[in-house]
Amino acid sequence: MQWTTFFESLAQLEPNDEFVTGRPGGLSPELAEQMADDIATKLNLNACDTLLDYGSGTGAITRALATRVSSTTAADMTKAVVNRGIKGGGDIEWVVLGDDNPDLTLNPSSSGSFTKLLSYYNAQSFTTHTEVREHIETLCKSVAPGGTVMFGDIPDRERSNQWKSGERGREENRTTWMGRLQKRDIDLERDEHNLAAFSDRLKGLGIEPPPEFGKPHPGFDRDIVTRMFREIGGEVTIVTQPIEFPNAHTNVDYVVQFSE
Ligand SMILES: C[S@@+](CC[C@H](N)C(=O)[O-])C[C@H]1O[C@@H](n2cnc3c(N)ncnc32)[C@H](O)[C@@H]1O
Repeated sequence: MQWTTFFESLAQLEPNDEFVTGRPGGLSPELAEQMADDIATKLNLNACDTLLDYGSGTGAITRALATRVSSTTAADMTKAVVNRGIKGGGDIEWVVLGDDNPDLTLNPSSSGSFTKLLSYYNAQSFTTHTEVREHIETLCKSVAPGGTVMFGDIPDRERSNQWKSGERGREENRTTWMGRLQKRDIDLERDEHNLAAFSDRLKGLGIEPPPEFGKPHPGFDRDIVTRMFREIGGEVTIVTQPIEFPNAHTNVDYVVQFSE
C-alpha cells in the first residue's frame, strides 16, 4: 500500500488541501470546476442523481459535482485524506474504505444504489490489469440498474508514448502544490523536468513516494479494460482526452452505461 502511505504522509505533513490531492501541481477550485464540467457532461449528471465518487481524494472535484446532484458520497481509502475532505465542507457524505475500518466501509445497503459513479485519477496506482479488474468489479457492485460509471483519467497504453517528464501539472494546474514545494527549497524549473530527482527530493522532505512516482505509466490496454466492463454488462464508450486537457494528455475516460 505504498500509494496510501504516500497520500497519508502528504495529508499529515501538508497544511494545504490542494497539496494533498496527489496531483503534481495541485488542483485549484477553478480547475476542479473545469474538470467537473467535463465529467458532468460525460456522466450526463442531473439533479435526480445519487453520485458516488470512489477514490475522491480530498474532494475538490466531488465538491464541484455535489451541487449538481441530489446526493453525493465520497469514498477514499486514505483516512487522513478523508479527514481533510470532511473539513473542506460541502454537502457530501464521507466514507473511509478498507479492511482496517470495518465499521466505516461502504455500507452494504447502499451497494447498487448509485445512479452515477465516478472513479477519477485513481488508476495510476495500479500496475496490472488484474488490479484494474478488481477495482472495476468493486465499482460495478455499487451502481444502480440503468446507472453510469465513469472510470476516468486512466493511463492509456496507446498514448503512453506521449508522456513527457514534467508535463503533468503544467501551467494552471501546478500552482499551489509546486508553490509549496518551492518554499521548501524544491526548484520548480529544474525538478519538473526530472520527476525521478523530484521524487528523491520529496524523500528528503520525509515524504515517501511510491517507486513508480517518477516514471511514466505504461498504460492499460483499451480492449482488455473494455472487455472487463462488458463482461459485467456495461456498454463502453471510450473518450480520448484532448492533448491540452489539464493533467490528462496520456489518458482516456471510459464511460460505461448499464441496462435497466
Ligand atoms: C491522485 S488522487 C485523485 C483524487 C481525485 N479523484 C482527483 O481526481 O483529484 C488518488 C486518490 O485515490 C485514492 N485511491 C487510490 N487507489 C484507490 C483504491 N483502490 N480505492 C479507493 N481509493 C483509492 C487515494 O487514497 C487518493 O486519495
